[in-house]
Amino acid sequence: MSKRPALLAMPRILYGTAWKDTRTSDLVYEAFVQGFRGVDTAAQRKHYREDLVGAGLARACRELQLQREEVWIQTKYVVLLTRFTPLSGQDTKGPLPYDPAASVADQVCASFVSSLTHLHPDAQIPDVRALLAQYAVRANPDAARTEAPRQVVYLDSYLLHSPLPTLQGTLEAWVVMEALVDAGLVRHIGLSNVYDPHIFAMLFERARIKPSVLQNRWHSSTGHDVSLLALLSPVLSPNAFPPPADVLEAQPRGVAYQPFWTLTGNQRFLQSDAVALVSSQRGLTPAQVVYAFVSQGMGLPGLTTCVLSGTTDTQHMREAVEAVRTAELDPWDDAELASLRREVYGE
Ligand SMILES: NC(=O)c1ccc[n+]([C@@H]2O[C@H](COP(=O)([O-])OP(=O)(O)OC[C@H]3O[C@@H](n4cnc5c(N)ncnc54)[C@H](OP(=O)(O)O)[C@@H]3O)[C@@H](O)[C@H]2O)c1
Repeated sequence: MSKRPALLAMPRILYGTAWKDTRTSDLVYEAFVQGFRGVDTAAQRKHYREDLVGAGLARACRELQLQREEVWIQTKYVVLLTRFTPLSGQDTKGPLPYDPAASVADQVCASFVSSLTHLHPDAQIPDVRALLAQYAVRANPDAARTEAPRQVVYLDSYLLHSPLPTLQGTLEAWVVMEALVDAGLVRHIGLSNVYDPHIFAMLFERARIKPSVLQNRWHSSTGHDVSLLALLSPVLSPNAFPPPADVLEAQPRGVAYQPFWTLTGNQRFLQSDAVALVSSQRGLTPAQVVYAFVSQGMGLPGLTTCVLSGTTDTQHMREAVEAVRTAELDPWDDAELASLRREVYGE
């Protein structure tokens, strides 16, 4: 039997698939031609066409001869409980991937099956509920002693798009995500749109399987997540970026930070003298400088980051991949990164 290739580590840049509508499939394919090896999408029809992301990925894998293991597939899901929230986060004109009156656990499960199906159009989708019954540690404590199987069809990373209105609701969803990891259907689980370090710390503490990703808006209105960053890095000195003292734990975190709005929400930074200087010294566009800076954890010790770029322009795709890849091979020096960081965080 031929050996399956090693699994890909999270790339430092993912192709963002929001707001592309019917162009999604072609743009995902083009992004892979230009060197992207991962996508970020969501089961949220209002902003994403997850089904067309799957079609674009299938074409890219076929035509570029990539195996599933050489591609990073990340998606997010939204829990909508009629008892909690209006359906504003979803496009109710299109089909919802689940019944909004169902329990949190049932919604997560149904949404996951729908995402897995969208993102692997050519594959046979396993019986997810049967696998959960067999391997979920909570449902079956004996499963804790069994090594998690590696399924043929899986997601690299699965994120909760936003926390639910209650901690209890969020934890209900999280337990299902943990079970998906137990069953080998998901490699990493994570959170998005968590801006309060208290909430992040509480979820982190209560989770049996810890979040590996935090995907947040990178913007001055939230202080560019200044008080969260020290919670994500296993080694970042709390003195450099202090989170509120009562949420700081000695325990290492090691959570990858995935900012969005990196260009659109940071025009002042993009047009700053600091970016212009690095841009002229390195012969990069200002957007490349910002992406390369972010991809290097903004020079913060131990901070892992992943750039999200949703460009629709072929040249911008190529430039983004090149900037991130070059910085990965030949990291910038501390002084250069600090000059950019000062512009954002004013340290
Ligand atoms: N979790 C959430 O709530 C959430 C929210 C928003 C977004 N996201 C994710 O993040 C991804 C990225 O979204 P985003 O809001 O950060 O915006 P974006 O889609 O990455 O970029 C927006 C703008 O930046 C321009 N641009 C991109 N690369 C460029 C380059 N190299 N040089 C010059 N201009 C460039 C684009 O123009 P061109 O097309 O002309 O290049 C576009 O106008 C989304 O697709 C989605 O996957 C997640």
